[in-house]
Amino acid sequence: MAHPSIVILTGAGISAESGLGTFRDEGGLWAQHRIEDVATPEGFARNPQLVVDFYNARRAQAAEATPNAAHAALARLQTEHPGDVMLVTQNVDDLHEKAGSPNVVHMHGALNSALCGACDHRWPAPLQMAVGDVCPACAQPRARPDIVWFGEIPYHMDAIERALSQADIFAAIGTSGNVYPAAGFVQLAAHVGALTVEMNLDPSETVALFEDTRPGKASETVPAWVDSILAN
Ligand code: OAD
Repeated sequence: MAHPSIVILTGAGISAESGLGTFRDEGGLWAQHRIEDVATPEGFARNPQLVVDFYNARRAQAAEATPNAAHAALARLQTEHPGDVMLVTQNVDDLHEKAGSPNVVHMHGALNSALCGACDHRWPAPLQMAVGDVCPACAQPRARPDIVWFGEIPYHMDAIERALSQADIFAAIGTSGNVYPAAGFVQLAAHVGALTVEMNLDPSETVALFEDTRPGKASETVPAWVDSILAN
């Protein structure tokens, strides 16, 4: 295959070696916070301060973080591979962008973006958001973090499914395979005959669905995988 079309899905594991905590590993974010309190529209309605504080802390941490060798390798793949490469991330940090990735599809939103709960306008989030921040478009005090919470629909699903339906290679990196629809991408890709590759520290919930599994740290497995693609 001369120039395979590639779709990559990344999760919290790719940013772990940059010092950002994952969700479900021991001591992860979901061991310290209740999902229903900080990652649902109902939690935000109940206690917006708690939710805004949670994402302010994560935004501050992400602002200090630097990308690792795995982010850098994917940026190299995106710029040097002559075929299509869609990089989809569940992560809300901007480490792919900091590493030089030209296009990143943030299916679960982004910490550096604010969203108006009244009119859906988006604007760059300040480092510290406040409850009741005013929307610059409609002037309603309804700003919220631009994060896809549980019960909400992930962003860019049409474009992602289109790319998966034409993929020759699908790679999932640093994701536990617990959260749908992302956890189902491997099945969509396998259905169209794509080669499926998992690069994760521990086997994910969906490991059995992958043809090629490369256990280990993303900073080691991903650069090696990118080298193998670019060498072909
Ligand atoms: P998880 O915390 O569920 O899974 C992280 C995965 O990364 C685990 O399977 C680890 O084994 C693996 N991992 C840890 N360190 C690694 C390393 N150095 N190299 C490679 N792999 C490593 O995170 P996600 O699967 O990304 O959604 O979670 C998916 C979604 O659930 C998140 O986007 C978030 C969360 O609830 C929302 O908040 C909507």
